[in-house]
Amino acid sequence: MAILKIARMGHPVLLQRAEPVADPTAPEIRRLVADMIETMEDAQGAGLAAPQVHVPLRLFVFRVNPDRKSDDPLDTAVMPNGVVINPILELIEGDIRPRWEGCLSIPGLRAAVPRPWRIRYSGVDCDGSPVGGEVAGFHAGVVQHEYDHLDGILYPMRMTDFTKFGFNEELSRAGTWTPPGAPR
Ligand code: NI
Repeated sequence: MAILKIARMGHPVLLQRAEPVADPTAPEIRRLVADMIETMEDAQGAGLAAPQVHVPLRLFVFRVNPDRKSDDPLDTAVMPNGVVINPILELIEGDIRPRWEGCLSIPGLRAAVPRPWRIRYSGVDCDGSPVGGEVAGFHAGVVQHEYDHLDGILYPMRMTDFTKFGFNEELSRAGTWTPPGAPR
C-alpha cells in the first residue's frame, strides 16, 4: 500500500469529468482503493475521490466516524471505510440544510454548504457487489461531496453564503464551527 499525493484546488484534474470504471473487480482498482483508504486515513479525512489522487475515474472512498453522526434520528448509522465504484446519486428534494464541509484538496478551510439532507445512491464495491441505499445526515453529505468530485465540482461552487467560509482555526476559535469530537 502507499500514501498517494493529493491534488489541491487549482489542479486541472479536479475540474474534469471522471470516466466510468470499466472493470470494478480489476486488481489495479482494488490496489487503488486500498491506497486511497490509506491516504484518507493518513490525512484524517472523511472521504476521498479518485480525481483527488490524480486518477480521473468514477469511484470514491469514505467513512462515517462515530463523532460525525448527528442527533437526528434519520441520520444513518456509523459506517467503516467503504468504497463506491461507478456511483449513481439521487437527491431527495425538500429538506436542504447547511452542512460544514472541508476538503482534502482545499486544506485548512471549511464552509457551510447547502445540501439535501437525504439521498439515495448505488454503485458497486471491488467484488462487484452492490452498495448504497437511502441515507441521511453526515453519510448523505459526504457521498454528495465525493460524488461532486467525479463531475469536477468542488464545494465552493455549491456555496451560497460566503460569510460561512473560513480557516478551521478561526471558525473554531469564534465558535462558528465545532470540530468533530470536540465537546458540544
Ligand atoms: Ni473533497
